[in-house]
Amino acid sequence: MPIYIHHDEPVFHLKGGNTSYVLAYTPTGLLAHLYWGPALSDQPLLSLISHADRRFTPDLRAVDFQGCREQMPCEFPSLGTGDFRLPAIEVLHADGSSVVDFRYISSRIIPGKPALEGLPAVYAEDGDGAETLEIFLEDAPSRLRVCLLYTVFPASDALMRSVRLENAGVRAVRIERMASASVDIGRSSFDTITLSGSWGRERRIDRTPLRPGTFSIESARGVSSHQFSPFIALADHDANETSGSVFALSFVYSGNFFAEASVEQFGTTRLHMGINPRDFSWLLESGETFQAPEVVMVHSASGLRGLSKTFHALYGKRLARGSWRDRERPILVNNWEATYFDFNQEKITDIARAASRVGIETLVLDDGWFGHRDKDDSSLGDWVADRRKLPDGLDGLARRINYLGLTFGLWFEPEMVSPDSDLYRAHPDWCIHVSGRLRTEMRNQLVLDFSRSEVRDHIVAALSSVLESAPIAYVKWDMNRGLTEVGSAALAPGRQRETAHRYCLGVYEVMERVTSRFPKVLFESCSSGGARFDAGLMYYMPQAWTSDDMDPLERLKIQWSTSLVFPASMIGTHVGTSPNHTTHRTLPLKTRGAVAMSGAFGYELDLSRQTEEDLAAMRVQVAFFRAVRTIVQFGDFYRLVSPYSSDEAAWSFVSPDKRESFAVYVRVRHEPNAPVVTLRLAGLDSGSMYHVVEGFDDGLAMARGTGFVMGGDLLMKAGMVVPCLSGDMQCALWRLRVSTG
Ligand code: DGJ
Repeated sequence: MPIYIHHDEPVFHLKGGNTSYVLAYTPTGLLAHLYWGPALSDQPLLSLISHADRRFTPDLRAVDFQGCREQMPCEFPSLGTGDFRLPAIEVLHADGSSVVDFRYISSRIIPGKPALEGLPAVYAEDGDGAETLEIFLEDAPSRLRVCLLYTVFPASDALMRSVRLENAGVRAVRIERMASASVDIGRSSFDTITLSGSWGRERRIDRTPLRPGTFSIESARGVSSHQFSPFIALADHDANETSGSVFALSFVYSGNFFAEASVEQFGTTRLHMGINPRDFSWLLESGETFQAPEVVMVHSASGLRGLSKTFHALYGKRLARGSWRDRERPILVNNWEATYFDFNQEKITDIARAASRVGIETLVLDDGWFGHRDKDDSSLGDWVADRRKLPDGLDGLARRINYLGLTFGLWFEPEMVSPDSDLYRAHPDWCIHVSGRLRTEMRNQLVLDFSRSEVRDHIVAALSSVLESAPIAYVKWDMNRGLTEVGSAALAPGRQRETAHRYCLGVYEVMERVTSRFPKVLFESCSSGGARFDAGLMYYMPQAWTSDDMDPLERLKIQWSTSLVFPASMIGTHVGTSPNHTTHRTLPLKTRGAVAMSGAFGYELDLSRQTEEDLAAMRVQVAFFRAVRTIVQFGDFYRLVSPYSSDEAAWSFVSPDKRESFAVYVRVRHEPNAPVVTLRLAGLDSGSMYHVVEGFDDGLAMARGTGFVMGGDLLMKAGMVVPCLSGDMQCALWRLRVSTG
């Protein structure tokens, strides 16, 4: 039973894994946040209020915070009644006022975890033992009712939180801000950790001390964005990879978000996450409800490693769904950087032929196969194969690829329309736009208005017809621009600011329909690289393209940071061309391979034009990856040496039974006569001896007994010596297996 309601105290104690979360209500029904941190035993907890109450009244029964709301640690802060910090909700009542004062009415515990209508969310399976607490609050004058939802799993440190607002009054209200989670933490001695960046440089870790005032991140682009990820953490100043407290919020949402950490006069911190209120409002008629997306809250008392372990387990197994959740992901070759738009059936077949010799399992045909798309200025929306390039159509090409022993994958950008397309000519009002204003084109394209059901139906039908027309085993679902002139021709003037959220809900609906209609297809999301690499999309598609930047030097940081939240199975990563198309660096194939095989692995170069020597090396890489794929995609991940703090990086994967491991070390910059480097591993069984082989080994070196044997204890405490590496961006990699000899 992870949720306890105390009968002699107005207290709720939610306990999951090694974490407790405690809330209580005052005699006048104000909901107070009492605790979030290491697990507490089940005991009287009301005295926790003394930590927060500045008047030292260690009894909540005697505290009502009237007139001093800003001293109260709130669970769902209201606006206009004396708490001058950021409210969780802002509404505009029919009388033009905006005061709300939510008070406790009732609560209940339900087994499992209810789905959130129309939204992605963590789910529970039978036997998980999950429980959900619903707390009902009401603003009596307006009869607005809030249901706060909290789910805990007995064995996970994560807490899932969301909010449902119901208008039980007689008059409509306009929601102007709606947090999914707001939590007051009783101190401010933290660093914030966020993931920020740009195209080709996504999700770099930013760590900065909290100061009095506010620190916020957001997206207003209609997608979660390259610039900021919907993730924010507060870490002890001395928290590191393996120790210290970290409190993190991750948003299960793919549209505009806002997250803030604010430190107020008493040195406490309010952490807030929700839909971005910028250009958002929602008209809630009498009798209607509004469901806010889910926030996953994770506490770790064992630093960033503990944090990631919780996220990886939860997102890998209880956010990702479908037949691919637990299956090894195919090794791909994608033709984008090999050909861009300049390909035909023969060229793609040549690449597939070479891929088949290398042992690659899926060929993905990227952008340019439809309409008359020879560059990026036409045909989005016209999902019909271009017979000039593909005379035998998709079916003919897919069958050729299948004949070569590979499955066939296809690129789409379903949410877009080119002004030069039959779809746009037939339905010029089907794009997001504001009547009478310029429709800003980005990459020569406009965004389809997925808030409209007829647009969604059309796209589901168009995609379904392509997916039914050929043996397509994989889909790359791209999205290459942000939203501008945000408005919908189908919405009333008073509802225009609902467009961006309705668009996101529309995307989710289309994804749900398409993925459930084609359950065997592996879907990978993509957004101009990693502009929509978020927990929301992972509910529909179990892996995502991480960045268009395939330079392994850049990927060291991108993948390291992405791994804070997401497991390797979700991180799409390919071996690109050298010199790299984004950074123009020349990079060794071994390092390109080692970095790329730390996720959902593939190649993205013209295999038909590689030297025999490189093809042979790739064949060995592919065979090696097959041998370690399960550990990489479903094992435990350890960040060992940070690319942020040195000219090197290292990480490893360990099988759940600790019998096998795969470790990588990269030296970024060559130093003459560099000091000896020892690499200390993690997660091994200290009592076992491990057979260790360096280099891409398809099993033969292991079988022959080459390499060396070393104890798990030594490997973790003393470390193993990294071989001398000569040149920039060189790497060593090791496969370890418990020695039976
Ligand atoms: C952006 C993606 O990130 C690339 O991988 C590629 O699919 C292009 N779009 C195609 O237009």
